[in-house]
Amino acid sequence: MGAYGLRGRTALVTGGSRGIGRAIARRLGRDGATVAVGYARDEAAADEVVAGIRADGGRAFALRAELGRHGDAAALWKAFDAGIGAHASDGGVDVIVNNAGIGRGSGLESLTEEEFDEVFAVNVRAPFFVVRHGLERLRDGGRIINISSGAARLAMPELIAYGATKGALDTFTLNLAKQLGPRGITVNSVAPGIVDTDVNAGWLRGNAEAEAYAASVAALGRVGQPEDIADIVAFLASDDARWVTGRVIDATGGAGL
Ligand SMILES: NC(=O)c1ccc[n+]([C@@H]2O[C@H](COP(=O)([O-])OP(=O)(O)OC[C@H]3O[C@@H](n4cnc5c(N)ncnc54)[C@H](OP(=O)(O)O)[C@@H]3O)[C@@H](O)[C@H]2O)c1
Repeated sequence: MGAYGLRGRTALVTGGSRGIGRAIARRLGRDGATVAVGYARDEAAADEVVAGIRADGGRAFALRAELGRHGDAAALWKAFDAGIGAHASDGGVDVIVNNAGIGRGSGLESLTEEEFDEVFAVNVRAPFFVVRHGLERLRDGGRIINISSGAARLAMPELIAYGATKGALDTFTLNLAKQLGPRGITVNSVAPGIVDTDVNAGWLRGNAEAEAYAASVAALGRVGQPEDIADIVAFLASDDARWVTGRVIDATGGAGL
């Protein structure tokens, strides 16, 4: 793992308090960015991420913004403006990582209308409006990175609505890349497979059979770790990735090959 020079840049990571988002926030912080660590409820976890970035010599602040409700994105940016003020910044942002997301593990027969609305509100509507309201702050040459899922391309009927949210997010990536390209802004999706985070803890951690199954899904033969995803995001956030846009970067370790 190298270190990309993001000093002087600002990054927003939604869902930065735990799991994949935490690893992304830590990595971008190590690379020199000032990181806004978004979270919904777990303030202690967000504070821990901020403390970790500061201990590494970086700059960060926690940003409480529960997504999935009307007005969520406007509230998020209001909190961003308040937090970034203390960092002698002009209020701009260079990297937006739409990572916060929820899964709904029910299929066609059992998913309720309420669950359907909730998963689309958090996974699709929120990133859409986070970008819409963030555009005036996003500097030319910036980055938008949407955390998608292998479930958008691999059929998993028990995750049908969740997979559809990530398919929608990928289409959003495609169109935004076209629209924002003239400003030198790249927009990409990163699509993880099974990653060892809290969302999978219940069925995966400490269950040898489940771990063996999850490892067998990836050609590389192990369960994904949050850092596997964060390192790809760090590349996309860097100047080195300036010529990649509108793409879904597979981060499944080779699932479904
Ligand atoms: N884990 C996997 O196997 C996997 C695979 C493919 C794709 N993904 C995608 O990767 C992303 C991160 O997943 P993860 O496994 O790291 O999740 P996680 O461990 O459950 O962490 C979720 C993070 O998102 C935040 N969050 C959840 N609901 C939110 C809401 N309504 N508003 C604002 N923030 C919210 C949480 O904040 P609090 O700490 O405050 O709750 C937490 O920081 C998601 O988009 C997910 O779909 C995950």
